[in-house]
Amino acid sequence: MNKTIVVTGGAGFIGANFVLTWLNQSLGTVVNLDKLTYAGNLENLTTLEHNPHHIFVQGDISDQALVAQLLAEHQPYAVVNFAAESHVDRSIHGPEDFIQTNVVGTFHLLEAVRAYWGNLSAENQQAFRFLHVSTDEVYGSLGKNDAAFTETTAYAPNSPYSASKAASDHLVRAYHHTYGLPTLTTNCSNNYGPYHFPEKLIPLVIHNALAGKPLPIYGNGLQVRDWLFVEDHCAAIRRVLEAGKVGEVYNVGGWNEKPNIDVVRTLCRMLDSKKPRADGKSYADQIAFVQDRLGHDQRYAIDASKIARDLGWKPQETFESGIEKTVNWYLEHQGWVNNVASGDYRHWVSKHYTERGEEMA
Ligand code: NAD
Ligand code: TYD
Repeated sequence: MNKTIVVTGGAGFIGANFVLTWLNQSLGTVVNLDKLTYAGNLENLTTLEHNPHHIFVQGDISDQALVAQLLAEHQPYAVVNFAAESHVDRSIHGPEDFIQTNVVGTFHLLEAVRAYWGNLSAENQQAFRFLHVSTDEVYGSLGKNDAAFTETTAYAPNSPYSASKAASDHLVRAYHHTYGLPTLTTNCSNNYGPYHFPEKLIPLVIHNALAGKPLPIYGNGLQVRDWLFVEDHCAAIRRVLEAGKVGEVYNVGGWNEKPNIDVVRTLCRMLDSKKPRADGKSYADQIAFVQDRLGHDQRYAIDASKIARDLGWKPQETFESGIEKTVNWYLEHQGWVNNVASGDYRHWVSKHYTERGEEMA
């Protein structure tokens, strides 16, 4: 079997970081299948334009015939599934795309992979892996003093996004249990870093701060997320792919729980010193408390001790070092931000935040 892998959703935030680091480390050829929704951006992959080990295919994971054809043609030893609708707020406005891609799409992808895998030689069947990239949000919301999510925490998804991811996780589990497909699942906490689409909290705040716009905090800003630098997540996925036990689930997290308001204040402080406002005031003056998200989960926290113990993975970045790299990246890539923050993006931001009582057009 050759050293090719198929990555789905590799033009999005985490997928692009994964593809870039995979190819930087010369780990083999990547066939990158991405539908290029609003969140997919070929600009994330411009450094690979002339790289013969990157084969980009625009297409949908729900297109079983296309996936079957790609698998037959490229004979990968693994499929890593990042493709998804990923933004909770969008799932509240319009859940249908989430069901279509995250549930139905994962089902069709699994069907195509099962057929391909079934026809491999016994040796290649043994070596093959289907790695499904999922989220800690499937476990629901924690109270202040609750223990962090482990791999055995009961699923309790609260948003259409997390419910659709939970459904996809269950399908992956069932394909292992029923058909013996060699699957692996990772459930990771909130990522941040380069190429993060500015609809999510951290890149939105950096973008709005520099544009002189409000920094919208939902509710009281005391909701807690567990932040992980995206390259650490990519390293965890590589490690699970290499050494994870077939059929197992691995929680991935940064041991970095922070209330949203603290994250935003840290970003403001960093920008105050790296790119001070012309009027000498702090970016924190732009903070605006807005109407809360419907069904907003209070706290996520990942217990990542299984992956540390069994596979020796630990995050390399602290929140302080990761957030500094991230802010520097955004300051150095304002062209990228301006290109993605146009068209459809402007429409989303204007509609979504006007409903919360904040003008951001
Ligand atoms: P993203 O929204 O930035 O990117 C998703 C990518 O998938 C885009 O390139 C999009 O074009 C593509 N895509 C969407 N529908 C598709 C379809 N039907 N067929 C093919 N491609 C399609 O998302 P992300 O933040 O990079 O997340 C990647 C994965 O990691 C998702 O499965 C998400 O649930 C999971 N995850 C994300 C986080 C996070 O903090 N961002 C944390 C844990 C897990
Ligand atoms: P987000 O980046 O959308 O990730 P997720 O909902 O998957 O955790 O949001 C992170 C946290 O920040 C979440 O508690 C919602 C909050 N938030 C705001 O307070 N304001 C915003 O404008 C956004 C986008 C998010």
